[in-house]
Amino acid sequence: MKVLGIETSCDETGVAVYDTDVGLRAHAVYSQIALHAEYGGVVPELASRDHVRKLLPLIRQTLDEAGIALDELDGVAYTAGPGLVGALLVGAAAARSLAWGLNLPAIGIHHMEGHLLAPLLEDEAAKPPFVALLVSGGHTQLVDVKSLGDYRLLGETLDDAAGEAFDKTAKLMGLPYPGGPQLAALAEVGTPGKFKFSRPMTDRPGLDFSFSGLKTQVLLAWKASDQSEQTRADIARGFEDAVVDTLAIKCERALDAAGCNTLVVAGGVGANKRLRAKLQTMAEKRGGRVAFPRPALCTDNGAMIAFAGALRLQAGEHTDLGVHVTPRWDMATLTAM
Ligand code: KG4
Ligand code: ZN
Repeated sequence: MKVLGIETSCDETGVAVYDTDVGLRAHAVYSQIALHAEYGGVVPELASRDHVRKLLPLIRQTLDEAGIALDELDGVAYTAGPGLVGALLVGAAAARSLAWGLNLPAIGIHHMEGHLLAPLLEDEAAKPPFVALLVSGGHTQLVDVKSLGDYRLLGETLDDAAGEAFDKTAKLMGLPYPGGPQLAALAEVGTPGKFKFSRPMTDRPGLDFSFSGLKTQVLLAWKASDQSEQTRADIARGFEDAVVDTLAIKCERALDAAGCNTLVVAGGVGANKRLRAKLQTMAEKRGGRVAFPRPALCTDNGAMIAFAGALRLQAGEHTDLGVHVTPRWDMATLTAM
């Protein structure tokens, strides 16, 4: 089965073709970062308009790269939520119309389920039961996955998401939007241990997170410092270590709570090198394993939507002819496949 996947929930237009026989045939992502940078964050209306401009050319390009004609497709999957309503509607309308025109089934996919399943896309050994750590710009969640589609929330952030904390911390030290990846790059040349920040909520039981206080700790340290390039890197390193340690401590607890030894990690912050290394070490120590998508499939992309769509279409599901999106959508309401 060859499925076209379309992702337009926020500021990336993502398109891919996933083939259940051979795997990912092609995927392309157009990032709107440059468009939003001067505003310091995503402007929803500009995001919608840019998806309108870029989606059809990107679909043509991806089909060309996959060497697949429109009439060879077997289904169309699109992100139906959560996300920005206007941005979601662009992808949903395009996907729904294309499927109607081609007489194909279409399926609306939950964006976080897309992220959650991405580690399985190129790793055949990664199968439920597992614990998923979802760490993106909008979410930080630990999910107990007993079978595909059966998602039980174990813990989540009470305030900022991990990616949001990276972005806000980068911003307050003067890095341009979105600062997460740049802060991580800066941390590479920072001195470990020069600045020590807390590991929030690890001193008590529970699987929830809180990252907003770390940002304040960084702000105070940055204001009191000489604000040199090296200090910025040292603080970045201290901040990254605090987030990574916190996530690793809670992941280990979640594995214990779920009685399982496989962790899958997804979402933009899953691209973070130090997080990947730390979780790898933690899992190996306990004789378990951790699965990550390749970094390009950690951040928003169409491949994860095509893959999740293929799984759900194969399970016999499809969405009706209407163009529906769900900007706020609890993953626990999804049905098992
Ligand atoms: O999953 P994603 O692409 O979009 C959302 O659905 O939110 O995640 C984007 C987030 C941003 O906050 C970005 O700063 C963060 O992931 N991010 C990183 C890294 N790469 C992306 N954070 C830390 N280290 C990275 N290497
Ligand atoms: Zn995302």
